[in-house]
Amino acid sequence: MTILITGGAGFIGSNFVLDWLAQSDETIVNVDKLTYAGNLQNLASLNADPRHVFVHGDIGDGAMMDSMLALHKPRAIVNFAAESHVDRSIRGPGDFIQTNIVGTFNLLESARAYWSHLDADTKAAFRFLHVSTDEVYGSLACGDAAFTETHRYEPNSPYSASKAASDHLVRAYHHTYGLPVLTTNCSNNYGPFHFPEKLIPLMIVNALAGKPLPVYGDGQQIRDWLYVKDHCSAIRRVLEAGRLGETYNIGGWNEMPNLDIVLTVCTLLDELRPRKDGKLYSEQISFVADRPGHDRRYAIDARKMEHALGWKPTESFDTGIRMTVLWYLDNQDWVTNVQSGAYREWLSQHYGEKVDA
Ligand code: NAD
Ligand code: TYD
Repeated sequence: MTILITGGAGFIGSNFVLDWLAQSDETIVNVDKLTYAGNLQNLASLNADPRHVFVHGDIGDGAMMDSMLALHKPRAIVNFAAESHVDRSIRGPGDFIQTNIVGTFNLLESARAYWSHLDADTKAAFRFLHVSTDEVYGSLACGDAAFTETHRYEPNSPYSASKAASDHLVRAYHHTYGLPVLTTNCSNNYGPFHFPEKLIPLMIVNALAGKPLPVYGDGQQIRDWLYVKDHCSAIRRVLEAGRLGETYNIGGWNEMPNLDIVLTVCTLLDELRPRKDGKLYSEQISFVADRPGHDRRYAIDARKMEHALGWKPTESFDTGIRMTVLWYLDNQDWVTNVQSGAYREWLSQHYGEKVDA
């Protein structure tokens, strides 16, 4: 048996590949375009492992996807591939429309063509799992109930709007063509291999480099945080037992304001790698111009995952963030390698303007 995933060289996808092969011998075909966010170094431990087949390709390339599906005959597709960074979507939404909307549409077309020609038993067992985000639901006020699966879609950024559009396409392919789909909407992940443009890894990397820790606006925006390996176990569970056509909200029951996240990272670094000058890392915090249209609060009600599928996160934020900080301290080479010219260009373009603002 084989599954095919897309975007498996990115943050969540590479954690998923490693976890999958740690628990199963089922081959995993990994189609990834290797954008700035894709990194085969994440999967270096699998270099000689025949259970991992890497394919360099774009989900929007129908001919390539058709031939990969015909060749590998997967029993399931898990779609991680996306442009995923809100700030980049504000600066340049085009890539988000192309991959997240047009790319998902093309992938659905390839999946539909492949699935419709399977024999009856294989067809009934086939699954298309689409990995999405809580950001499609928009922003909550303090005191509002957390997002359930029936919360209306109110995306506010080009990123969340493009993910919302892809969710709708996936839904439509189930209702119109009967494609056996599942959709997951997860909160903010953190953990190993997280690209240091996102809040938690950026704070760790900047703190260690003696650079400012840029907190947007008042730092009181709230996110729910889930350790990435808990997200991976949730996806495996939905793939195994999710009801066709349904959506599942995945979260960590761990809402925190951004400033508290940054202070937690600073406190852990004070303990694990104190500054040489004896000062605290929190002295590096710098409040900068806010993100345009910044969503104030996300919160996930993950009770359906627990009641219907018996899934709960295993890590608390305390255990997960400690493992994450330790991982970055132990993997400085990985950090150095991803800090290419393109990465430095993004930092100076984005934060240069924010500090000047
Ligand atoms: P990421 O940006 O780290 O990785 C995305 C991967 O997709 C990269 O390897 C990239 O090369 C690949 N990719 C991009 N465009 C592609 C294309 N056209 N064809 C093939 N591959 C392509 O993202 P991530 O954080 O790992 O997120 C993975 C998925 O999970 C995304 O769909 C994202 O919307 C969703 N998600 C992320 C979070 C989070 O906190 N990171 C939370 C909920 C949902
Ligand atoms: P991010 O990691 O980009 O994820 P998302 O926007 O998908 O939630 O940002 C998490 C939160 O941290 C978000 O409210 C924006 C904020 N943030 C900062 O305050 N400073 C930063 O430098 C970054 C990248 C994010």
